[in-house]
Amino acid sequence: MTDTENRKSKGAKVSAPDSANEPDSANEKERVTRRKLVTGVAAGAAATTLTGVGASAEASGGRRRSVKVKPVYFPRRRHMPEVNLIGKLAVITGASRGIGRATAEALIAKGVRVIGTSRNPAGVPNPPAFPMLPLDVADSASVAAFVPALASHPTFQQHGQIDILINNGARFIFGQIIPQPPTDFVNDYLANRDLGVRTVYTGHVMLTTALLPLMAQANYSRIIFTASAASYWNGSTVFGQSGLDVYYSAKAALRIYANHLDTTLRGAGSPIKVSTVSPYTINTGLADGLNPIYTQPMNAQGLSDFDPILNAGLEQVRASIANGLPASLVGDAFVQLAEMADPRQNVVAASRRRRLAEAGGNELIEPQYVDENAVSAMPLVAADD
Ligand SMILES: NC(=O)c1ccc[n+]([C@@H]2O[C@H](COP(=O)([O-])OP(=O)(O)OC[C@H]3O[C@@H](n4cnc5c(N)ncnc54)[C@H](OP(=O)(O)O)[C@@H]3O)[C@@H](O)[C@H]2O)c1
Repeated sequence: MTDTENRKSKGAKVSAPDSANEPDSANEKERVTRRKLVTGVAAGAAATTLTGVGASAEASGGRRRSVKVKPVYFPRRRHMPEVNLIGKLAVITGASRGIGRATAEALIAKGVRVIGTSRNPAGVPNPPAFPMLPLDVADSASVAAFVPALASHPTFQQHGQIDILINNGARFIFGQIIPQPPTDFVNDYLANRDLGVRTVYTGHVMLTTALLPLMAQANYSRIIFTASAASYWNGSTVFGQSGLDVYYSAKAALRIYANHLDTTLRGAGSPIKVSTVSPYTINTGLADGLNPIYTQPMNAQGLSDFDPILNAGLEQVRASIANGLPASLVGDAFVQLAEMADPRQNVVAASRRRRLAEAGGNELIEPQYVDENAVSAMPLVAADD
């Protein structure tokens, strides 16, 4: 079932555009009286921070819709593998730690052979047992060099094709949307926004395109992208300074690219099926120290010497990630998708039991989606509205 079909079967629909293109306040009022409050959403806890963490209905003028977020959670509690993965070959970018490494380990436990990547395989502490090749997706020369390096690797030579490509490696991007002095507009702001887009979006497009000829061209063939729950979050109702717009925009672009690629390949009769996994907050080093890309000057500890607002936002994000779900949960989500004969296009990696981490102000995602829906030109409403 596609995501659209799934939504329809759950009784929600996307409203048709209003032909007069004007807000209908009478209808709107009637709808408001019929709205059920969204369960589990804390009212009015708007924190005017850089991240929007804690922003809620208050941010959208107290408006609540008769919709609630109903994510397609993976890993599923009941899962029947439809594909035997033993002996398949997976290539996983960004497999040196975190989600990529956990996914490699989960696939290896299913009998998959893995070739991973790192920007610096020799420098990976606690190196994994699977082979690692150098790759920096933000650097087109590195992407170009990776293809022949992979094709000549003994594990690839033995198998002859990639069965599963996981485009996972990336970095967080932080920095105020309006550059703060003494930020250098060209060298800090523009250059690092560009690096961010290449790291999170364009690099994966380059790599995927370059690897398509090496993908299995018959029977089983999969490409899966690590997107982000944040790719569904546009920030339109967040009050306060935004510091995450590049990361969220680039992740949304990546998910849209993946979905287009899937429909294009399916339409052309290719066996390659493309999916995205959007993790909620996961406990990794994504936001630690100098791991992220910063669009304004930062000190060696990954903090600003002049911007307390950015530092407050960073602290919130770091606390949120520290309280996040284990990376192994995302690894299990990847495995389940890989084991489906007809994988879903898009899933969220989170635990139904602990949908968001319980501490550290992590109650950020669901209220924000609902608020954004309330101000959307294409809102989701209940089918009887
Ligand atoms: N943690 C979360 O809450 C969360 C939530 C949603 C989505 N995600 C996504 O999950 C993916 C993995 O992140 P993580 O949380 O596991 O963070 P992480 O622990 O920092 O791992 C990031 C991985 O990406 C690799 N990498 C970084 N820059 C790269 C580049 N330019 N080219 C190729 N590889 C690169 C790193 O390898 P080297 O440093 O060895 O090169 C590392 O293996 C990312 O796409 C991230 O956006 C994470």
